Amino acid sequence: MEVIIAPDYETMSSLAADIVEELVRSQPAAVLGLATGSTPIGLYQELARRHREAGLSFEEVTSFNLDEYVGLTPDHDQSYHYFMNENLFQHIDLPLENAHVPSGMSDDHEAFCGSYEQAIAQAGGIDLQVLGIGGDGHIAFNEPGSSLKSRTRLKTLTNETVEDNSRFFESIDDVPRYAITMGVGTILETRHCLMLANGEKKADVVAQAIEGPVSAMITASALQLHPQATVILDEAAASKLELSEYYKWVFEQKPA
Ligand code: GLP
Repeated sequence: MEVIIAPDYETMSSLAADIVEELVRSQPAAVLGLATGSTPIGLYQELARRHREAGLSFEEVTSFNLDEYVGLTPDHDQSYHYFMNENLFQHIDLPLENAHVPSGMSDDHEAFCGSYEQAIAQAGGIDLQVLGIGGDGHIAFNEPGSSLKSRTRLKTLTNETVEDNSRFFESIDDVPRYAITMGVGTILETRHCLMLANGEKKADVVAQAIEGPVSAMITASALQLHPQATVILDEAAASKLELSEYYKWVFEQKPA
């Protein structure tokens, strides 16, 4: 696992955009895995800027989002469909028919989840998966206790996640209790994982995920099993890491 500590949120976002840009320029038909939450917003703004100002094109890209709330229609302003349109798709040239976000409105969730896995496989697998980390250490909506081999499925959210995410809803009662999420196993099969975290609130859980034991209790720790995982943090999110000086040293020594 490569751990990069950036001085601030803007640098974290721009370093992440460099990784996405390098892939898309060298492989225009790349398959991107995308995430929601406040963390990747800076990355998406930077990609939109590079599209506008530096000719970065997503015309041949296919994307798969990690998760979606059950029961929210795509036009609901708290759905992840809506989030992706507002924060990224509207601002770049990725054809909407190539942009996949799980449906939280299916009549048969199990069948839908199977078809989502199949679509990822048919696209040739995900080249680069962007990830955030939840307050309880989850990736996507893989809450504590999720099997590290889990696949796309319906998941019940924890109380902590419902509370964390209630800031975006009018009342906590409006926060969905279920989500459709790619599994930890699905995420581990992607060719490159790129996890981002910022802010002091994430410092403890980031340290557990990166330097603690691999455990279903902190599903982000499964990234330790991934052959190519990059984690980019701001100073605040990195503040509880034991080896932070070493990670900085490694980055300084990295050949250009
Ligand atoms: C949600 C999403 C995760 C995301 C997490 C953190 O639970 N399902 O994919 O990583 O929120 O959100 P934030 O980036 O706002 O802290």
